[in-house]
Amino acid sequence: MTHLANERFLSDSLAGLTQSPKQLPCKYFYDQRGSQLFDQICETEDYYLTRTETAIMQQYAGEMGECLGEGVMLVEFGSGSSIKTRYLLDHLIEPVAYVPLDISHEHLLASADQISHDYPNLEVLPLCADFTKPFSMPNPKRRPSHDAVYFPGSTIGNFRPSQAKQLLASIAHMCGEQGGLLIGVDLQKDRDVLERAYNDDQGVTAEFNLNLLHRMQKELGATVDVNSFEHHAFYNSDQGRIEIYLRSRIDQAIQLDGQIVQLEAGELIHTEYSHKYTIDGFAQMAKEAGWTIRRWWTDDKDYFAVIHLVVL
Ligand code: TRP
Repeated sequence: MTHLANERFLSDSLAGLTQSPKQLPCKYFYDQRGSQLFDQICETEDYYLTRTETAIMQQYAGEMGECLGEGVMLVEFGSGSSIKTRYLLDHLIEPVAYVPLDISHEHLLASADQISHDYPNLEVLPLCADFTKPFSMPNPKRRPSHDAVYFPGSTIGNFRPSQAKQLLASIAHMCGEQGGLLIGVDLQKDRDVLERAYNDDQGVTAEFNLNLLHRMQKELGATVDVNSFEHHAFYNSDQGRIEIYLRSRIDQAIQLDGQIVQLEAGELIHTEYSHKYTIDGFAQMAKEAGWTIRRWWTDDKDYFAVIHLVVL
């Protein structure tokens, strides 16, 4: 991490921990270890999201490629290991460039190299950026007929609806007229299925959540007993979201940059929300952000949807 990034991690952590209720920003989950753990979550039996979305991509990438149209510059938000993207890349019609964008530098460059190697005719322009902040798009050698954003993983669900709407609006602005968006959205379903997905049997999700505290220890020199925290996740059906917390098992204090943060036994630090949508609910929010659904694809259980939207 650069000095500046470290400073921001520190100030964000301090700001979150001195707030009431306490919270830590979820974007810091994804250092190299966090990204690896997330890949492991995706392989667990309980986390159906990735498997289901990948199967939808595998089955319908041909139709999606046609919908996205010829000569597109495809920008992927939160590209991670770009596994699902390959199905799409295989079916795009004369794509002009592929721009994988991720906050995790090492992860980004490694997978961009792989894609470049496997798609020698595709211009790959990796961009290390935080897609919630303004960033400038790279210039491809050829001129695209239009830009489209691929935003898989139901990452949109990790934003509060008001922020999600803003993000969708800024994507519409970035893509401009003719712009497209292909987005993965996790759908509302039985509590059991949802809660298991965020409390996997092997404890990988717990490890992923606790990695935030490990990072604070390692990168910010925080004094914190990671073992005295536990992962806590449940479905809030009124809000249609999974809520994820770190729970202090005991009364304790965290020391960070000379400040002391007190926690009581049982106290929660909020780390993430994962909102689940209905197609109609998502369509409504997207419409307010300038998008219209053109088509969508789902699995036989209606667990997950991949939705294609256009700017009108
Ligand atoms: N985008 C993922 C999701 O909402 C992120 C995620 C999966 C996650 N498991 C998690 C975030 C556990 C925090 C903790 O499903």
